[in-house]
Amino acid sequence: MAETFDLILRGGTAVLPGMTLEVDIGVRDGKIAAIGDLEGAAADNVIPCRGLHILPGVIDTQVHFREPGATHKEDIEHGTMAAAAGGVTAVFEMPNTTPLTTTPETLAQKMDIASQTAYCDYAFYLGGTAINARNLPEWENLPGVCGIKIFMGSSTGDLLSATDDEVRTVLANGHRVVAVHAEDEMMMNENKKTILGDSNNVNLHPAWRSPESCVSATNRLLRIARDCGRRVHVLHISTAEELDILAQNRDIATCEVLPNHLTLAAPECYERLGTRAQQNPPIRERRHQDALWQAVRNGLIDILGSDHAPHTLEEKGKTYPASPSGTPGVQTLVPVMLNHVNEGRLTLERFVDLTAYGPARIHQIAGKGRICPGYDADFTIVDMKARKEITAKQQKSKAGWSPYEGMKVTGWPVATIIRGQIVMQDGEVSGLPRGLPVRFKETLAGESAAATIVPLTRNRQQSA
Ligand code: DOR
Repeated sequence: MAETFDLILRGGTAVLPGMTLEVDIGVRDGKIAAIGDLEGAAADNVIPCRGLHILPGVIDTQVHFREPGATHKEDIEHGTMAAAAGGVTAVFEMPNTTPLTTTPETLAQKMDIASQTAYCDYAFYLGGTAINARNLPEWENLPGVCGIKIFMGSSTGDLLSATDDEVRTVLANGHRVVAVHAEDEMMMNENKKTILGDSNNVNLHPAWRSPESCVSATNRLLRIARDCGRRVHVLHISTAEELDILAQNRDIATCEVLPNHLTLAAPECYERLGTRAQQNPPIRERRHQDALWQAVRNGLIDILGSDHAPHTLEEKGKTYPASPSGTPGVQTLVPVMLNHVNEGRLTLERFVDLTAYGPARIHQIAGKGRICPGYDADFTIVDMKARKEITAKQQKSKAGWSPYEGMKVTGWPVATIIRGQIVMQDGEVSGLPRGLPVRFKETLAGESAAATIVPLTRNRQQSA
């Protein structure tokens, strides 16, 4: 009898661990069941993939979707819809929301909303502060928590651990990865007086939030991390100098880079986009961008995240510096980076390393991040030859705009498959929101029946 599957991806070029091969992939009960020549096999659904590339599902480990606070327009429903439309299969959301995600109660609120409205899989960072630090060894093990996040420099929201004492208190409590926004609050406060003054010129953004403030925060962080024996993950690196420092601290530190810092450069971005290019840490001059690309190529960078920050155009239109920092990005991460692949700046395999293997390694994700038997059947299917223009109309985020509007790219996500279910095909997100919490190896023991972490079976699919 012919072997049967729920789904077969037929004849795509798959980026497998260590090789890129034309294969068939068979999926059963939401998991990868077979990889190879499945010529004689039968399936309820067959997707012809010849000419397309099949990547492990892209995991965006830095997004801001904002719920449950009603002060922002975005919500988990539209944020995850944007993710799925852009080929992203799982997102990790940051805690600088209203209210802050710093307690089990606020985490539960988000988990509840996500369980009903998320189109992709999800997890949440728990914000670390001197106030909740003593509870973190317990709370960091809650289902749905991907790690701890601290802000050493203030950005959107009220989450801040600016001093060495505050940082140390968080790092000394718990053991999971601490993701850090490393800008030095004290230096930036000083710069604000001396550099920015009363100016409304967004061109000064990278000078106010200076390279020195990033270097200072990263140096202080690494010193404390070493004292505490705690591993840290430095988010959205924007300076050449920090890369040299990180290279000396690979035993305790990993790091992330954003498509925006790899694609846009000062001063041109501020002249063309004004406050739409404003984000923290800032987009800087070309010499920093060149160093970031070198670090992508030499392996220093571990993760590529979008830092999707869905401020509306109305909010961004405020006079600088009252304009908020951040740009939407979860839907454009894949096409912008595939265009870089096509232009020869990185390989497709390195893209997979940064968006699947890296997230799985650093966050210790259970059963995701590779195309191999037994893993969740999460795939980002891309057409490396498709040439398209990025438009505001395509954007599913309630923010409704992109800093890349008008950019023509080669390489586009054509399908998003999450645990064997087709969530997006040809740009259309369909079906009900069926996202589930991402699971983590370090907290498998803490899972309970109440956590409702069950693979989606065909029964649930049919009854939905
Ligand atoms: O520009 C930014 N915006 N950087 C951050 O770190 C936070 C983000 C936001 O939440 O809006």
